[in-house]
Amino acid sequence: MPTITYVAFDGTRHEIDAPTGSTVMENAVRNGVPGIEAECGGACACATCHVYVDEAWTEKVGPPEAMEEDMLDFGYDVRPNSRLSCQIQVTDELDGLVVSVPERQG
Ligand code: FES
Repeated sequence: MPTITYVAFDGTRHEIDAPTGSTVMENAVRNGVPGIEAECGGACACATCHVYVDEAWTEKVGPPEAMEEDMLDFGYDVRPNSRLSCQIQVTDELDGLVVSVPERQG
């Protein structure tokens, strides 16, 4: 099973086994990673699941779709490597993925 590392804003690392087919957001919420609120439950309608994809992984994860990009405008401190974690599906290729949680959501 792929492992994803979430780096909380205080630097704490949460290493989580993430089933393929689930989303990066779902695994954060299920495991209580602090700072991921995911108010809309994964519908790409709230931007409170914002994360920064580690630079080493941005190519593999890929860019956001147009709808996600529009929603990201509502994110806090959005950067070139920002993604909404509900829109990143876990695949075997993403084993080892590292994402960081922003200081706050929205
Ligand atoms: S959970 Fe709402 S946009 Fe991701």
